[in-house]
Amino acid sequence: MYQSLLTNLENGVFTITINRPDKLNALNKTVMDELNDAVTEVYENSTIRSVIITGAGQKAFVAGADISEFLGLNAAEGMQMARKGQDIFARIERCPKPVIAAVNGFALGGGCELAMACHFRIASDNARFGQPEVNLGLIPGYGGTQRLVQLIGKGRAMELLMTGNPIDANAALQSGLVNYVVPIGELLDKTKSILAIIQAKAPVAIAKCIEAANALYDKDKNGFEAEIDGFGECFKTEDMQEGAKAFLEKRKPTFVGR
Ligand code: COA
Repeated sequence: MYQSLLTNLENGVFTITINRPDKLNALNKTVMDELNDAVTEVYENSTIRSVIITGAGQKAFVAGADISEFLGLNAAEGMQMARKGQDIFARIERCPKPVIAAVNGFALGGGCELAMACHFRIASDNARFGQPEVNLGLIPGYGGTQRLVQLIGKGRAMELLMTGNPIDANAALQSGLVNYVVPIGELLDKTKSILAIIQAKAPVAIAKCIEAANALYDKDKNGFEAEIDGFGECFKTEDMQEGAKAFLEKRKPTFVGR
């Protein structure tokens, strides 16, 4: 169905694999268009409960936007490219279903930005993160200047942005960019084991957690108000009634997703 992505739906987990290993999974126009379509599938297909985004092969998650598409662009075209990329990545960030990046190697430039747009990140021990755009006379365009500051703090982000130097998986772990570092052979199993925990919860509650946490970073929203709204919305669900009842009856809840 896709030319440059592999997708697989198993146990409610939709795995999107960027599949251009000979180009280290660089994000060209086709990949970006297909990623946008795959995200639409995630929003629309109710059998998809959660998402993993990863890269094909053992060398790269995504080594950036496809540099071969940069030459000859003028300023307006550059802006258009950045805006389109930001729109797609914002749809990932705002997705009401959990989206985890399983970072299996280089996550550079647009690859680091894609990983940062996911709700959290798990890395293999060979992963490398960085925003090397300055080496090309550029800056990140898919949200990197903003999300890197949000995730690791301004001082550390400024250094990575201005030096273009990559950091290894352990440095990414120490700076809070990733939640776990595991051997590459265990990366997908570890990611799936965390998603299994999340999938056992009430989906509306998960969606409201994502929405309220994201609201902190949206200058048009008040996060505490978003939390109040989400908290109230949960009371409308059968799952919330079931969750509270099950606790009081000392049994495991059975959530139905509404
Ligand atoms: N855009 C387009 N092609 C890319 C790419 C990118 N961002 N990153 C890697 N590739 C291609 C290479 O051109 C090469 O293609 P070729 O075999 O047809 O020559 C192939 O992927 C393998 O990459 P190569 O550079 O040979 O691998 P390496 O192990 O020597 O180096 C990297 C790995 C990641 C250090 C190096 O590929 C690199 O620096 N990539 C660009 C990173 C970057 O600047 N990203 C931000 C872009 S805004």
